[in-house]
Amino acid sequence: MATDFIALDERWSTHNYHPLPVVIAGGEGAWVTDTEGRRYLDFLSAYSALNFGHRHPALVAAAVEQLGRVTLTSRAFHHDQLGLFCAELAELTGTEMVLPMNSGAEAVESALKVARKWAYEVKGIPDGTAEIVVAGSNFHGRTTTIVSFSTDETARAHFGPFTPGFVVVKYGDAAALRDAITERTAAVLLEPVQGEAGVIVPPDGYLAEARRLCDEHGVLLIADEIQSGLARTGTLLALDHEHVRADLYTLGKALGGGIVPLSAVVGRRDVLGVLRPGEHGSTFGGNPLACAVGRAVVRLLSTGEFQQRSTRLGAHLHGRLAELVGRGLAEVRGRGLWAGVDITPGGPSGREASEVLATKGVLCKETHGNTLRIAPPLVISEADLDRGLDAIAEVIRR
Ligand SMILES: Cc1ncc(COP(=O)(O)O)c(C=O)c1O
Repeated sequence: MATDFIALDERWSTHNYHPLPVVIAGGEGAWVTDTEGRRYLDFLSAYSALNFGHRHPALVAAAVEQLGRVTLTSRAFHHDQLGLFCAELAELTGTEMVLPMNSGAEAVESALKVARKWAYEVKGIPDGTAEIVVAGSNFHGRTTTIVSFSTDETARAHFGPFTPGFVVVKYGDAAALRDAITERTAAVLLEPVQGEAGVIVPPDGYLAEARRLCDEHGVLLIADEIQSGLARTGTLLALDHEHVRADLYTLGKALGGGIVPLSAVVGRRDVLGVLRPGEHGSTFGGNPLACAVGRAVVRLLSTGEFQQRSTRLGAHLHGRLAELVGRGLAEVRGRGLWAGVDITPGGPSGREASEVLATKGVLCKETHGNTLRIAPPLVISEADLDRGLDAIAEVIRR
């Protein structure tokens, strides 16, 4: 029974999440099945980690093939997947070097460490004084250093003391960014679209201006594309919409194909090159299984098919959501097959809407308050997308 599984979770797992009362036992493409055999459309995609859907055949095949060979070596030895994965990912992203890790938070931590080291050893900032400028309402993960510069009190309360060296400015405000940069600034860290904050797309020109300011002051631009990247917005990277290049990108989530945790920092050789043996690492980072799956992900992305699907289905999604503004929705934001929608005050909360949607066979989740995030797998059919949108329209209708 589903209630038994939920009771087990409640009894034995820490209560750091508040999941919907649905117990998933299977998944294929854009659909999941619960323990009682009921089917649901997945409109969340594990926060974009399932861009290619559940159990994409090419990704499962790559994983199974590698499971039959070797899964873990540690980085004490070479293996035959690491170099190929790094070369293929670098080629796909137009970058020069790859630092593989596991979770998204680890990739961000790694980028912060690399930026600080670069600042001291290359830029010449006095040791221990480097600053990194970040945006308000950011979400970059849950480690102690990362929550140090979160503006979400729930994420920070009672987790201090915090890591110093971060300056928080308003997201989307280029003047605030300019004023925050000093001779001690090592890097600017931004999400090209803020996912967790409610799929916030910054004003046109903001990211290009961030690039210009970084160039002017010899500061690194770090783009956190863990949620926005890898075809979610209709381009490989969300920064591509603005024709802006970052010095470092953090990638994660969909990089592991929804099968294994796999993240990476990719970027300039003269920046990532500051790391020397013993200075940074992870036992599982760049393991053979993850690299084999990552290589299959790179192959899927190099066809452009998923970017095109996101663009085409995203136009349909946003066309339909626009019709709901004033009819249950106060605001719609997003890019490609990705939207943040604010339910009109007086309507259901995001949580209530998600609970009712689950009873109608659609799995959605609030980011906070009355904001829902809509991020179906990019493999979804237009008919299934419409099916989910019909349910949303019904639940939020005023
Ligand atoms: C932009 C961004 N960065 C970092 C992370 C952290 O990734 P992980 O949960 O894999 O540590 C997330 C997760 O939602 C994210 O959206």
